[in-house]
Amino acid sequence: MLETNTSIQIFSDSKVLSVRAANLFSRLAMDAVARRGRFLVALSGGSTPQALYQMLAQSPYREQLPWAKIFIFFGDERCVLPDNPESCYYQAFNPWLSKVMLPQANIFRIRGELGPLAAAEDYAVCLKSMADSGMDWPWFDLVLLGLGQDGHTASLFPGSNETRGVATVAVSANYQDRPANRVSLTPQVINDARCVVFMVTGKDKAAALANTVAGARQLVLYPAQRVRPEHGGVIWLIDELAASLLPEKIDDIAIDRN
Ligand code: 6PG
Repeated sequence: MLETNTSIQIFSDSKVLSVRAANLFSRLAMDAVARRGRFLVALSGGSTPQALYQMLAQSPYREQLPWAKIFIFFGDERCVLPDNPESCYYQAFNPWLSKVMLPQANIFRIRGELGPLAAAEDYAVCLKSMADSGMDWPWFDLVLLGLGQDGHTASLFPGSNETRGVATVAVSANYQDRPANRVSLTPQVINDARCVVFMVTGKDKAAALANTVAGARQLVLYPAQRVRPEHGGVIWLIDELAASLLPEKIDDIAIDRN
C-alpha cells in the first residue's frame, strides 16, 4: 500500500497517456522555473517514455519550454557507451534532447562507460555539484520512473538492499535482454523529489503494478514501494491494460479514469 500523497490516473491507451505526461512535464517545468529559476528532472530509460520524449521535441513544447533553464539528469543508466541504443541517455538524447535548444552543458549523463562502481562514484560527485550548499544531491522537481514486469523501478531491483546515506548505487541485474551492469539513484534521492511520475503501460505490467500500489508493503520484493517522497507527491500515469488487475478502490489513493 502506498502513502496518501499518491494519485493514479488511468488512460485508454499509451498515446493519450503520453499527451498528459507531456502537458504535466511542461506545467512542472514552467512552475519550477517561475519559482526557483530552474527545472531539475531525472529521466527514465526503457520504451514507455519514448512517445513522451518524441512529443517534447515537437511543437508546442519545442518552442515553449525554457530549455536554457532545464537541467537533465537520469534516474539510472546501463553501463554502455552513450551512443549505444541501450543507453538511457541515448534513449532520451536521440528522439528529443538532440532536437531542442537545450544546452549540452545542461545534460548530466551517468558515465556508464566507466563501469558500475566508478560511474556511481562519478555521478555522486556530479549530483553534489548541483545540490544546495551542505546537501549531497539536489531536490529534483520531477523524477520520471517506469516499472518493470518484475516490479523494479530505475535500477532498483527485487531483492536489492535499501542503500541509505548515498546518492547512487552500482547494480548488476538481469532484466530481459538489457545490459546487466547499471547505476541507479537511491530511494533517498528519489524521495527528495517534489514530484515523482510513474508511467506504466501494457498488460505485462498489470501484476507488478497491482502488487506495488494495492498489495501489502513488501519493499524488498516491490522496490517501487520504496518511492515515498518526503516533500512531494507521486502520480501514476497508467493505461487501461496495465490497470486491468487494480481494485476499483485503493485506500487513500485518488483514482481518476480519464
Ligand atoms: C531502465 C529503466 C527501467 C524502466 C523499466 C520499464 O533503465 O530500464 O530505467 O526502470 O523504466 O524497466 O521499462 P519499459 O518502459 O521498457 O517497460
